[in-house]
Amino acid sequence: MNETVIRVAEALRRAKEERSRNEIAAELGIAPHMVSASIRRLRELGYRIESPKRGLYRFDGPSKKLLPYEVKKVLKTKLIGREIRYFDKTTSTNTVAQNLLIAKDSESLHGTIVIAEEQTGGTGRLGRVWVSPGGGIWLTIILKPKIPIERAIMLTMAGSIAVVRAIKRTTGIGALIKWPNDIYIGKKKVGGIITELSAEGSEIHHCLVGIGIDVNIPLSDLPPQLKGSVTSLSAEIGRDVDRVMLLGTLLKEFELRYFQLEAMEYEPILREWKSLLCTIEHRVRIRYGSRIFEGEAIDIDDFGGLLVRKDDGVVERVIAGDCTHI
Ligand code: BTN
Repeated sequence: MNETVIRVAEALRRAKEERSRNEIAAELGIAPHMVSASIRRLRELGYRIESPKRGLYRFDGPSKKLLPYEVKKVLKTKLIGREIRYFDKTTSTNTVAQNLLIAKDSESLHGTIVIAEEQTGGTGRLGRVWVSPGGGIWLTIILKPKIPIERAIMLTMAGSIAVVRAIKRTTGIGALIKWPNDIYIGKKKVGGIITELSAEGSEIHHCLVGIGIDVNIPLSDLPPQLKGSVTSLSAEIGRDVDRVMLLGTLLKEFELRYFQLEAMEYEPILREWKSLLCTIEHRVRIRYGSRIFEGEAIDIDDFGGLLVRKDDGVVERVIAGDCTHI
């Protein structure tokens, strides 16, 4: 959206009733045909602009897309989202972020977010395909975190806490975290987080926090192999969710915890993450490389490792891999 389109949108939005093309043109000091072109563009982007009579326009509602202009209106953050790269369709927001980091230094991209309406090559943990049709939130946060490398795992924790809190605030649904970073509603997955770290020795170059949430996705749009194990927020509450509000809340919740991490306030995040974890006291199957074992998840340690008591009584600490509740 260019400057003129934004100004026309604002002029229409401010007015509570119809406005004429010439009136808007005079107010903004632009030619009337620019007003018409801007209105065409706004409609293409999904804005509802009625025209009860030729040359008269009324703003009937914003676009449902995650347009930076709309997101910035609700965003109350200082750092996260200070720059927004938006795509209607892209392969993966993580790939876009990686490419940005090749072209620009991580310090200048710190806090930038990449969002897409649709991903054609979304990836999840352990190299899995992440199905990303229109209606979800597909987001990557670029950070140059000023935290010790051994605490980098806590960026994922901050991400999952933020997703759970934002879902609760926007929909009332009490989602939980399945270790290590899946977001579940009951027995169905609704979102996930993947964190990519680039570091040398103890120095973190950058970190990408990739977040995916199935927001307004009819379950019939999902591939058959996901049926029964995946849900969406709209399927859970029976109506569409305001994605712009959900994203704005999520970024704010993430920023609060990111600043806590920078201030070395680890304990509240660990406590909160643990309180939202649904894995503890569950019988689990752990798959780690070629190893598979079962046991009871009894606790997590201060670095997010899962402690599993195997049937022979031995407790194993798991730091990565796949965990299934059985
Ligand atoms: C998981 O496996 O649970 C993590 C899924 C993370 C998906 C998100 S969607 C936005 C970003 N882009 C990607 O390709 N993946 C992450």
